[in-house]
Amino acid sequence: MKTKKIVVLGSTNTDMVITGKKIPVPGETILGGRFLLNPGGKGANQAVAVARLSAKKGACSFIAKVGDDVFGRETLSRLKKDGITPRLIVDKKEPSGTALIMVDQKGQNIISVALGANGTLCPKDVEPFKKEIEQSALLLMQLETPIKTVEWAAKAANKAKVTVILNPAPACKLPASLYKLIDWITPNETEAEILTGVKVTDAKSAQKATEVFKKRGVKHVIITMGTKGCWCGDCQKLYPCRKVKAIDCVAAGDTFNGAFAVALAEGKSCSEAVDFAQKAAAISVTRPGAQSSVPTRKEIK
Ligand code: RIB
Repeated sequence: MKTKKIVVLGSTNTDMVITGKKIPVPGETILGGRFLLNPGGKGANQAVAVARLSAKKGACSFIAKVGDDVFGRETLSRLKKDGITPRLIVDKKEPSGTALIMVDQKGQNIISVALGANGTLCPKDVEPFKKEIEQSALLLMQLETPIKTVEWAAKAANKAKVTVILNPAPACKLPASLYKLIDWITPNETEAEILTGVKVTDAKSAQKATEVFKKRGVKHVIITMGTKGCWCGDCQKLYPCRKVKAIDCVAAGDTFNGAFAVALAEGKSCSEAVDFAQKAAAISVTRPGAQSSVPTRKEIK
């Protein structure tokens, strides 16, 4: 029997962030920044978004791999605090994932990730949780864990008629067999271009990229386009985003994806799900950090 649970499979990182006036160019040193140590990782950020934005507690399980270190232990306690069921595998050799992030005055960022244990998450690690995936309402994944594991989990979900959302971030070439297992793909405009070869700048080009994804077997396409809004391939519409003063866009996409997954799992239409996700993402960019910026369901209302 299916549960209402959403399973997130993905990465967990500790973000080392410097916020400053501008992002230095190679060879340049800039003083005056502020340092923060934040919980992050696209997978964990999306799991936190699912947990905080769900109507009920205990709606999210998170499958990930950490190192046998302080960051890994921190991850476990933080996930529990958010009411997430942690399914963490411990790698005895690799350290937990870390990310170096710089954020400028406009809230723009650059990110460099050392995957560590995230990079060794293999199908054998996930096998004990196969039943949980098969019984869930929805499986949400990104690309900071090995593609073979993403494909293995997508196959299990697809066979059990569980909705699969792939947020292809960061983008890289995907096997043709994976596309056929995806119900919803949710790239941003850069990722859509890397994956389809179509430069996405407006509704027309977003539609073109949508057609490429659909030819490959993806059922539904959403393209997040920053301040331009969000393209929904089903509605063939570019939904404008809310005007807010952005101070930090780290994890805006993750918040969008977690919120979108929650709304879909609740049986909302794609336009309602986009609206819910855009509201959540708009709040997140007004706050610093990754998981620290994710709003609760109450705040959306
Ligand atoms: O999407 C934002 C996330 O990307 C950060 O939290 C960082 O850890 C990287 O995974």
